[in-house]
Amino acid sequence: MRRISWRSTVGRGSGLAVVKTARLGTCRSRKLGPTAKHRQAGTRGIAGLQVARSHRFNGGVSESQVLHELPRKGMAGEFVPKHYFRRMERDELCRPDRPLEIDLGCGDGTFLREMAGAVPERDFLGVERLLGRVKKVCRRITRSGLENARVLRLESRYSIEWLLPEASVSRLHLLCPDPWPKARHHRRRLVQVDFLKAIQRVLQPGGEFLFMTDHEEYFEWGCEQVDAFAQFERLEWPENSFFYPKTDFQMQWEAEGKSMHRLRCRKPITED
Ligand SMILES: C[S@@+](CC[C@H](N)C(=O)[O-])C[C@H]1O[C@@H](n2cnc3c(N)ncnc32)[C@H](O)[C@@H]1O
Repeated sequence: MRRISWRSTVGRGSGLAVVKTARLGTCRSRKLGPTAKHRQAGTRGIAGLQVARSHRFNGGVSESQVLHELPRKGMAGEFVPKHYFRRMERDELCRPDRPLEIDLGCGDGTFLREMAGAVPERDFLGVERLLGRVKKVCRRITRSGLENARVLRLESRYSIEWLLPEASVSRLHLLCPDPWPKARHHRRRLVQVDFLKAIQRVLQPGGEFLFMTDHEEYFEWGCEQVDAFAQFERLEWPENSFFYPKTDFQMQWEAEGKSMHRLRCRKPITED
């Protein structure tokens, strides 16, 4: 078996300039698949960032040599972590005295922008993996002069599992996520017990997870996963019971006559 190293530019096309050389272990052949670490993150590449590109055999690099970071200047409105391979501190993400809300898969940022505009005393972070959408959100945030909203270009699950600090988030929104309707694609759905476990870690006690979808079967699936996880309290969420702007996809689905299904859960204030 040979040691391998992997040089990668993270975030191809995004201008992300994290270049790393990491010893990833050993391999039996040159046909290298995703490493265990990547599989754990539920993605093929680190952070789902289309890592990859070239594998190089160079005799192995020690762990102390791992992760050379090059600075990258983000777009206005974009949040670029100082480091993609360690947990962040809460004060890197938001102002210390402000509640932090996360919008996973924020799309074109309609919800994020409206929410941030309406509640300036809270801080908002959108997470979105598509560069075009991130650029659009950045433009919208900047044009609206919002100082309490930013967007992170990254894969949702990686962000929650590996980057966000424990007990840092007051509300986490997952709105109209891709439903992956085919049975063979169900494993790609975000709402799974492992993901709920990661959400529970980042939520503050009393923090909420809000999941909304037009897809009835995905909604039932989500409820089953929450019940199986059994660590959240279910809360009522009648429509219009509190301020909650419509998302871009929600408006599209509702215009087609579809209705939305809502699941609202809370991390208990005192854990058993
Ligand atoms: C169906 S759209 C919904 C967008 C927005 N929440 C809305 O309701 O208008 C799903 C969005 O999530 C993004 N997305 C899907 N899977 C993702 C993932 N694993 N990590 C980050 N973003 C993701 C997609 O690029 C897309 O913008």
